[in-house]
Amino acid sequence: MADLYKQGYRIVLAHGGGYYVTNLMEKLGKQPVFVKSPSGVVSRYTDWDTLWCYVMGMMWINKQLTAKLIELGANAVGVSGVDGKLLLAKRKEHIIIVDERGRQRVIDGGYTGKITEVNTTLLRSLLDLGYLPVIAPIAISEKGEMLNVDSDQVAYAITTNIRPDYTLFLLDVEGLILEGKVAEKLTAEEAERIFRESSEVTGGMKRKLYMAAQIARQGIKVILSSGLKDNPVRAALSGQGTHIAPPG
Ligand SMILES: Nc1ncnc2c1ncn2[C@@H]1O[C@H](COP(=O)(O)OP(=O)(O)O)[C@@H](O)[C@H]1O
Ligand SMILES: [Mg+2]
Repeated sequence: MADLYKQGYRIVLAHGGGYYVTNLMEKLGKQPVFVKSPSGVVSRYTDWDTLWCYVMGMMWINKQLTAKLIELGANAVGVSGVDGKLLLAKRKEHIIIVDERGRQRVIDGGYTGKITEVNTTLLRSLLDLGYLPVIAPIAISEKGEMLNVDSDQVAYAITTNIRPDYTLFLLDVEGLILEGKVAEKLTAEEAERIFRESSEVTGGMKRKLYMAAQIARQGIKVILSSGLKDNPVRAALSGQGTHIAPPG
């Protein structure tokens, strides 16, 4: 990523870090809670204590990524969606979950939000000044509350607003795996159908595939590929991973 940056590519990095927040909570003696939506997407339930750990954990990751990119020669600037109202969100008052017995229940939304606005002026200004923005998935509400926003949703909000040539999801697997191998090329419609119908898509991939398909629907090329190899961005751009094409 840093080498492409040095060649003049304009890059925005949005990160997640759920595993780290979970580890931090356990270290602090707090029990992470996960809930499942009717469409089968699992997410963290964020009460006040969880938000506290979430913000601390995500900031640690944000600074580590920023420091690493700086070490590699990229002029990275780490921000969260709170800073400069980069990500404005509406707090979810209620969420519908499916409990252990398979019944739907309505519960308080906690400190989670849905992104309603991206401060593209700020983002473009940073890019114009030659920075590589590194964005943590924390948003701010109109009332000034910090909110947990899912990082795949952050990717959707940012890329559909600044419309890059590519949106890359860097994973700890080689791409979308179906029947034991990487699905190389998909259309947005195929990706949506797989999201709805395939029992092979679970966990973190479920939500990611849905958001990836929505990004492709907006006319942006999407790649899901491994972030665990050397030059992961170059590898993805040269054809590795799962490529999702915009409709016709
Ligand atoms: N069909 C699939 N193809 C690829 N990855 C999958 C699939 N089904 C589930 N996954 C999981 O999705 C993960 C990628 O999602 P990601 O958002 O990076 O992780 P998480 O949200 O779990 O932290 C992979 O590590 C893998 O375990
Ligand atoms: Mg995830």
